[in-house]
Parts: sequence; structure tokens; C-alpha cells
Amino acid sequence: MKEKKFVFHNGVKIPYIGFGTWQIPNKDAYDAVTMALKNGYTHIDTALVYRNEENVGKAIKDSGLSRDSIFVTSKLPAHIKGYDQTLRAFNKTLTNLGMDYLDLYLIHAPWPWNDIGKDCTKENIQTWKAMEQLYNDGKIRAIGVSNFSKEDIQALIDACDIVPMANQIPFYIGRDQKDLLAFCKKNEIVVEAYSPLATGDLLDSPEVMEMAKKYDVTPAQLAIRYCIEKETLPLPKSTHESRIIENSKLDYTISSDDVKKLDTIQDVRKK
Ligand code: A2P
Repeated sequence: MKEKKFVFHNGVKIPYIGFGTWQIPNKDAYDAVTMALKNGYTHIDTALVYRNEENVGKAIKDSGLSRDSIFVTSKLPAHIKGYDQTLRAFNKTLTNLGMDYLDLYLIHAPWPWNDIGKDCTKENIQTWKAMEQLYNDGKIRAIGVSNFSKEDIQALIDACDIVPMANQIPFYIGRDQKDLLAFCKKNEIVVEAYSPLATGDLLDSPEVMEMAKKYDVTPAQLAIRYCIEKETLPLPKSTHESRIIENSKLDYTISSDDVKKLDTIQDVRKK
């Protein structure tokens, strides 16, 4: 499973499952990433605002694995917009990680988190131009966005040269983002699924529990495999080794009828 890869439109390959580190504090990030790498994960996802880049980078370095065998993603903070600001924040991320290049760099959100929905189209275009520069300079192997709507992405496509290679969005059973998924597919943008367990809320859903039993898997494994059935790249996260292992054991398939049944489940986070 972990060996399988998505291919971006520029030919760069990204492992099917990534290890997410959102909400893992810096003090726990070293151990969590070390456990993930020890158990075969080859793709680690972080961000400047997670404040754990230093220990993520240290864990990767101390793992003894070669830099080019690990796919590393980080993100430009949502409130940092503009050409020069982007270059500066990128350098900070590289310094924190102790690396000289990134595999994937994303604009964390189209608007600052304290002003969700604000129209930052002009600023995002300037930001994207800086991302393109870093990409063309060979400092990043792929560039993308996160939490972007169709309209946010279309604005970049219209004004810039490079179509984003990825869009990382909240995606889980009950939040299947149909329209956005179809738009990304049409534009050859890989969709990465964050919060594949709905931050844990899906795990005690009776429907999920019942179907997990049918496949002899755990609710977490069902929820993560659902993302793959939808051709998205799941980013599960845990600070417990047994769960880190469990979340990567996904060598089974959910039938299309059962995927359809799961599609009817209501968003557990909106109940
Ligand atoms: P923990 O770190 O204590 O294992 P999401 O990826 O949707 O944001 O969900 C993450 C949450 O789900 C975390 O609270 C994590 O807790 C928990 N979690 C992750 N994997 C599992 C699992 N296999 N079984 C139960 N809980 C899990």
C-alpha cells in the first residue's frame, strides 16, 4: 500500500498515504514521525503553523533514511500572502526542517484563518508566482494549495503559468466534496484528504462500525480506505504506534455498493 504512488501532472510521484502531523505538538512530533518512518511511512506532512517542523526534520534526519526516499510536504501559513513574504516563509520552513529542498509546498488556505472567506485573489496570485519561482529554481519538486475552492484554484489557473499539482482538503465519510473532486480531477490536481477520521468523530459512528465489521477491519481502516476508493490521498495521523501501524494496513477494497452506502452517511461533524 505504502509503495503505491500518485503521479502529479509534472511526473513527480507522491506515496499513496502520508503521515499527517497537524495538532501533534513539537514535543511529540519527533517520536510520532520516528514511529511512522520505522513502520514504513515514506511521506510526512507538516506546516509552519503546526510549530513542529524542527522535530519533524530532526526525526527524518535521525531515521538514517536517505532524504530522497522520504516525501516531505510543508505549507505557507494562510495569513502570509505576497511574493517576498512567501520566499521568506519558505526559507524559514527549510531552516526549521534542516533541508535544502521540499517535495511539496502548499498555500495553507486562500484566506487567513481569522478571516475565513475573505477575497484574497490578488494576494494569492502574487503568492503563487513566488511558489512558481521556487519551483522553477528547483527548491520544491511540486507546488499546490490547501483548502482552496474551485473558484480559488481557477483564479490561479487563469493568471499564472503552473496549474497546482495538489489540493489538500478536509475529506472523510460524510464530507465527500463531490464538485471540488470532479474539478480537481478535470485539472489533473491530486486531492489530499486531511482529517480522514473526521478528527476521530467517525470512529464511533454506528454505520461505520457495522461496515468495518463486515470487512474485518477497524473503523479507522474503513474510513482511510474510503479516501483511497475516492481516489484521494489520505493523511491519517496518530501519536500511538499501534494506530500508526493500523492506519497503514489498507490492503483490501470496499465494494462500490458499499462506497455508495457510505456516501449516504451524514457529516458527523455537523450533527
Ligand atoms: P491519537 O493521536 O491519540 O491516536 P484525523 O486524522 O481525522 O484528524 O484524526 C486524528 C484523531 O484520531 C487523533 O485524535 C488520533 O488520536 C485519533 N486516531 C488516529 N488513528 C486512530 C485509530 N486507528 N484508532 C482510534 N483513533 C485514532
